[in-house]
Amino acid sequence: MSPSSSVPVLTIDGPSGSGKGTISRRVAETLGWRLLDSGALYRAVGYAAGAEGLDLSDAEAITRCAEETRIRFQAATDGSDTHVLVNGHDATDELRTETAGAAASAIASIPSVRQALVDMQLAFRKAPGLVADGRDMGTVIFPDAPFKVFLTASAAERAQRRYKQLKEKGLGVTLATLQREIEARDARDASRTVAPLKPAADAVFIDTTGMGIDDVVAKVLAVVRS
Ligand code: C5P
Repeated sequence: MSPSSSVPVLTIDGPSGSGKGTISRRVAETLGWRLLDSGALYRAVGYAAGAEGLDLSDAEAITRCAEETRIRFQAATDGSDTHVLVNGHDATDELRTETAGAAASAIASIPSVRQALVDMQLAFRKAPGLVADGRDMGTVIFPDAPFKVFLTASAAERAQRRYKQLKEKGLGVTLATLQREIEARDARDASRTVAPLKPAADAVFIDTTGMGIDDVVAKVLAVVRS
């Protein structure tokens, strides 16, 4: 047993727009635990591959890119979102777009790319605890996590939330296009053969449709405190 396996992990998986990012951040802050935004790793590799002009379906080239890309999270000093540095470049803004989400989803279906990111994710498991946000946190990366949650919401509400989020960041999108893009991404994430988006058998399923952030945070915290 590795020493880190005694460190508690709360996994929060779910489709895009289910509120995972916001909820994970709030819960991690409340518990005083570390946070792993695993989606940012896939986005960062997709971004680095794009910057190198690689073909996103070239498994060998993208795997090498995943192995070589340096990804660093840097807490913001002004209370805003954590910054993500990709090979030394602050790519926070570029990584937020739905284009970056789609590129992430494309490269995330390559098994060797997922394998290349495993150790980096496991290294986040440090005392006093970890909140891990993604698609396969409870099923593949931290199957032994004592606390697992799967968040979802209706497709319309998820599109609406992402729309609001992107608008607030000043990104130009239309709701109809976004809904189509999100549905395509979720379908690909759920149907891939390796680590598909699905709830772990022992996850607590929470449908957040119509729920406010505070109520969802309280429900998730109750899972850890029960
Ligand atoms: O969560 P986020 O929207 O940032 O994730 C972007 C994409 O990265 C997802 O659509 C999914 O394809 C991929 N991903 C994944 N496994 C994770 C986290 C994200 O395959 N654990």
